[in-house]
Amino acid sequence: MQKNHLDEVVAIETRSFPTPWTKSSFESHLEHPEFAYYLVALDNEKVIGYAGLFFGGDQGQITNISISQTYHRQGIGSRLLRSIIEFSIAKGIVHLSLEVRTDNKSAQNLYSKFGFKIVGTRKGYYQETGEDAYVMCLFDLQGEDDQ
Ligand SMILES: CC(C)(COP(=O)(O)OP(=O)(O)OC[C@H]1O[C@@H](n2cnc3c(N)ncnc32)[C@H](O)[C@@H]1OP(=O)(O)O)[C@@H](O)C(=O)NCCC(=O)NCCS
Repeated sequence: MQKNHLDEVVAIETRSFPTPWTKSSFESHLEHPEFAYYLVALDNEKVIGYAGLFFGGDQGQITNISISQTYHRQGIGSRLLRSIIEFSIAKGIVHLSLEVRTDNKSAQNLYSKFGFKIVGTRKGYYQETGEDAYVMCLFDLQGEDDQ
């Protein structure tokens, strides 16, 4: 993701979430590649999806992932998530976590396909709507538990 992608990213973000990230939220992460990794999916030059990771030490948090509605269910979310996981492994990250609305079964299914497990619930996590979040984690990316 580069700054020139941000208007299209924010347009998708705004259509996807009731309390979308602003352009400056994305900008502030892009300015810190030492702890933030953001990707876009492009169809020719058009942004059709994006995903982001915030990381430090051996932990990473997936901050957002969204695909433009007309491109849903074409494997694009999977490709972005796979790239985030591959980057995380290369960076030495051991555990990934994320929050997802408890009623967002599409996203939960996507994360489950990649091995994420529900480890807890945050009641009223989304303050503006009062919705609950599941915390989902992917453990042991470095395969250390197998040794
Ligand atoms: C969740 C989201 C990113 C999935 O992206 P996508 O590109 O459509 O996902 P994929 O095509 O790679 O699908 C991967 C898996 O996700 C699950 N999935 C995706 N859409 C689904 C749906 N409508 N219903 C049920 N499961 C779904 C399935 O397990 C699917 O695997 P399958 O096709 O083999 O059954 C997309 O629906 C989206 O952008 N939603 C709005 C934003 C959002 O909710 N982001 C997550 C915030 S935590």
